[in-house]
Amino acid sequence: MNEENVISNPDIPAINRAYAARHVQRRNMAGFRAPKLDTVRVGIIGLRRGANHIKALVQLEGVEIRAICDKRPSEVEKSMVWFKDTDHHPEIYTGGEDEWKKLCEQKDLDLIFVCSPIPLHAQMSIYALKQGKHVCSEVAASWTMEECWELVKTAEETQKHFMMMENYSYMDFHLVTINMAYKGFYGDIVHAEGAYNTSKEDNCFSKTMYSDMWWLREFGKRRGIIYPTHGLGPIATCLDINRGDRMDYLVYVEGSDFTCGRKARELAQNDPFYEEFAGLPYRGNMGVALIRTVKGRTLMLQHDPYTPSPHNLIHGIYGTKGAALFDPEPPRFSKGDHRWYAKGGKYNDEYDRLYCEYTPEICKWIGKDSKGHGHGGSDMRMDWHIIDCLRNGLPLPQDVYDAAALSAIVPLTSWSAQNRSNSIDIPDFTCGAWRDNPRNMDINLENGGGNTRILPPSQAAMTFDDHLAKQWEQHHAE
Ligand SMILES: NC(=O)c1ccc[n+]([C@@H]2O[C@H](COP(=O)([O-])OP(=O)(O)OC[C@H]3O[C@@H](n4cnc5c(N)ncnc54)[C@H](O)[C@@H]3O)[C@@H](O)[C@H]2O)c1
Repeated sequence: MNEENVISNPDIPAINRAYAARHVQRRNMAGFRAPKLDTVRVGIIGLRRGANHIKALVQLEGVEIRAICDKRPSEVEKSMVWFKDTDHHPEIYTGGEDEWKKLCEQKDLDLIFVCSPIPLHAQMSIYALKQGKHVCSEVAASWTMEECWELVKTAEETQKHFMMMENYSYMDFHLVTINMAYKGFYGDIVHAEGAYNTSKEDNCFSKTMYSDMWWLREFGKRRGIIYPTHGLGPIATCLDINRGDRMDYLVYVEGSDFTCGRKARELAQNDPFYEEFAGLPYRGNMGVALIRTVKGRTLMLQHDPYTPSPHNLIHGIYGTKGAALFDPEPPRFSKGDHRWYAKGGKYNDEYDRLYCEYTPEICKWIGKDSKGHGHGGSDMRMDWHIIDCLRNGLPLPQDVYDAAALSAIVPLTSWSAQNRSNSIDIPDFTCGAWRDNPRNMDINLENGGGNTRILPPSQAAMTFDDHLAKQWEQHHAE
């Protein structure tokens, strides 16, 4: 193995001890409310994933996209389709690695979406917070433990919102299961499971999919669950993590790489482009973490990014009175009576009844209008919620402590993998406030809000995106 191929293995327990010893919570950002903004002026960095957010944001009342940035002019050009026939005329920053700083410095912005590759997230987010902007970052918020602490520190010092946009919590079924948790359907939740098992191998090896082949490079130099938030975010919300309970410690087991290295070597035989990827020490196919909470509940989290089995999020919640399970299909509920009520099965009527009973208010409000948007509409539901909260001066649905705790799983599992799966403590970024912190993902709109309208897509967007057009027309013809 080349020297540069040695996997970094920082002393995470020592880093956490040092930060915890000197960190003083300046202000508790859980439940933080910023002054209401009638119009939310938005800047977006990174226009591949960022384009999904543009598509949603241009349909929201009270939003002005005033700046966009991508280092590649081609991505700026592609994203312009979403602005055609709209009142959005953003400043453009492109053509250099550091142009994003100018966007952050632009005076007339309230909120910045960070949608660049993950290794850049924290530095961009911290810079934007320091420019006095609220920040919503794509997942994960950071890959290093130091940056998780720095994000917490900076949000507390600047008193600006920082949210990691865990959109899987806004999937239809997931929202129902979160509402079930809020309404006590499960009784005491004992255990929950989540995963992001989805083969991204073809995407990672594609020369055109991800900029600078960044995902493949990262898989070639890391250990641990490097994409934890889609599996963990929704179940952590069900368990009220950071608001009544807290993740205490974890153990993590990672298998070997059975696919990536082989594929890289095969491709390199005929294509010199892949030579630099042929000798990398790829992360294993499957990684499994077990987490114990302070209240003695357990969480199981899996991540398998390459094995070609069907997409599996698991998303299972098990309690003393009930349970829910999303994957593998069909999705189902149980009422503690030793029976699954599954979609499309013998007890479909009861599944439908429960689904309907526990559908939260937010879905009734924007459910149909979110169809046609990314990730089963969850992108629109989440973006709508963010904007609606900012316009009404409400806490954002997820706070900086959620972002830090969920993202910290990356360095923690990396450490455990490289220390024979030994257990490691999960830091308390809330400085003890988790005991009393309020729920902030207000999916029943009980704290107000719910008055941000969704506007029709532009004519250009409907021409460009057939799916969006069909969904919109179908709903509004009903
Ligand atoms: N929440 C979700 O469901 C979801 C889905 C896809 C991606 N993501 C996240 O979105 C982020 C981006 O992923 P992606 O798939 O769009 O990656 P990508 O490589 O396709 O796109 C990243 C974009 O950022 C640009 N970029 C890179 N460095 C830059 C810099 N210094 N300044 C300005 N622009 C820069 C690139 O040119 C590229 O267009 C990642 O954090 C990923 O985890 C989330």
